[in-house]
Amino acid sequence: MSRSYRFPADFVWGAATSAYQIEGSPLADGAGPSIWQRFAHTPGMMANGDTGDVACDHYHRYKDDVQLMRALGLKSYRFSLAWGRVLPEGTGRINQKGLDFYSRLVDELLENGIEPNATLFHWDLPAALDDRGGWLNRDSADWFAEYASVVFKALDGRVKLWSTINEPWVVTDGGYLHGVLAPGHRNKYEAPIAAHNIMRASGAGIQAYRAVGKHQIGVVFNIEPKYPASDNPKDLAATRRAQAYMNEQFADPALLGSYPPELKDIFEDAWPDFPSDDFSLTKQPVDFVGINYYTRSVVRHDRRAYPQIGKRVYQRNTTHTETSWEVYEKGLKDTLVWFKDRYGDVPIYVTENGAAFYDPPVAESDIVQDPLRIDYLRKHLRALHESIEAGVNVKGYYAWSLLDNLEWSLGFSKRFGLYHVDFATQKRTPKASAKFYANVIQTHGASL
Ligand code: NOJ
Repeated sequence: MSRSYRFPADFVWGAATSAYQIEGSPLADGAGPSIWQRFAHTPGMMANGDTGDVACDHYHRYKDDVQLMRALGLKSYRFSLAWGRVLPEGTGRINQKGLDFYSRLVDELLENGIEPNATLFHWDLPAALDDRGGWLNRDSADWFAEYASVVFKALDGRVKLWSTINEPWVVTDGGYLHGVLAPGHRNKYEAPIAAHNIMRASGAGIQAYRAVGKHQIGVVFNIEPKYPASDNPKDLAATRRAQAYMNEQFADPALLGSYPPELKDIFEDAWPDFPSDDFSLTKQPVDFVGINYYTRSVVRHDRRAYPQIGKRVYQRNTTHTETSWEVYEKGLKDTLVWFKDRYGDVPIYVTENGAAFYDPPVAESDIVQDPLRIDYLRKHLRALHESIEAGVNVKGYYAWSLLDNLEWSLGFSKRFGLYHVDFATQKRTPKASAKFYANVIQTHGASL
């Protein structure tokens, strides 16, 4: 008998994007610049000198883009708000025109039967707040709560799913430890402080929501499961540290109210003694957790690794995406099962999953053939189904991404979209994966 991958009838099928990656016009209508605006305009930081100045021009084309979502049959669309559109200085003065853009987008989604899922922070911190220390400043938790409250008051009647922070690990590892993402710092002493404050901010945002919100709020983690390269104790220890550093450093304070002990070994004298009171702020009851899953890492001890979390061992004879990520769908199931074991039975949305692959140039035909992306999606959706069968409470899935977009410092060269975007003309063309996904949605997964 052939296997069925039919998902529950109320399963939420979605696609995701983020503000700086798609909107363009980052300074329009009175918006304040973000750290990404600054970073992208700093020579040498972005591949090919790409910036988010135009990106997918979604700021002007959002109505057309909602029609693309509709063509997919999406039940939900996950997007983020640019903090600096709402509060140009990060705190204080509200820019109504910026808020109005999101209000129009939300209305457009609802009119088309698509539930908005809004993320408050997807990396574009207002530059004015960076000038006040950014995530290194303990006040950042209050700044975030202030911004969050403004947005909740304006949109909570219509938005029913909220997330505080997207992928805090990437913000602090890329932005404060290795300097490859905004704000471009390379400082072992800063990274744990930024990480801690961002989780305090997430907690403060959830508290603010409880005061005014009536629906659901959570936080989004990127989880990359770690597997040891061998049984050698050094590999096992490096794997434990890698797991603590990338995955538990953020989920533990949010859900357990503590840090795993390995972080002290990793950061050594750079690991501060955080006030114990802080954990009552970081640990707030969440309605769900968002998990972004792309790949796994097989870890081998390496004393040259910085920080001391071993190095990734390249897996031969498997497919890798254009961002060099191994395609490993079993890791999605392992992640979801691990999450439930460690943190309990919280409802989960897979808030991102997808792949950059080389896409052939758009020819006369009206569809871009992307068989590797289809294969990636199919494998991961099957693994997701198996996770649900294994008892994990997964409520929905969001493909990354609706559109090809600005892959941060990698620029426009890495294409993750279900729709191809010609960045010279802004023409959107469906890829075969868009048809595939529309069919999955329509059949509740039975076509998998
Ligand atoms: C994670 C991030 O949330 C998103 O912004 C990024 O484009 C994708 N993963 C792909 O790297």
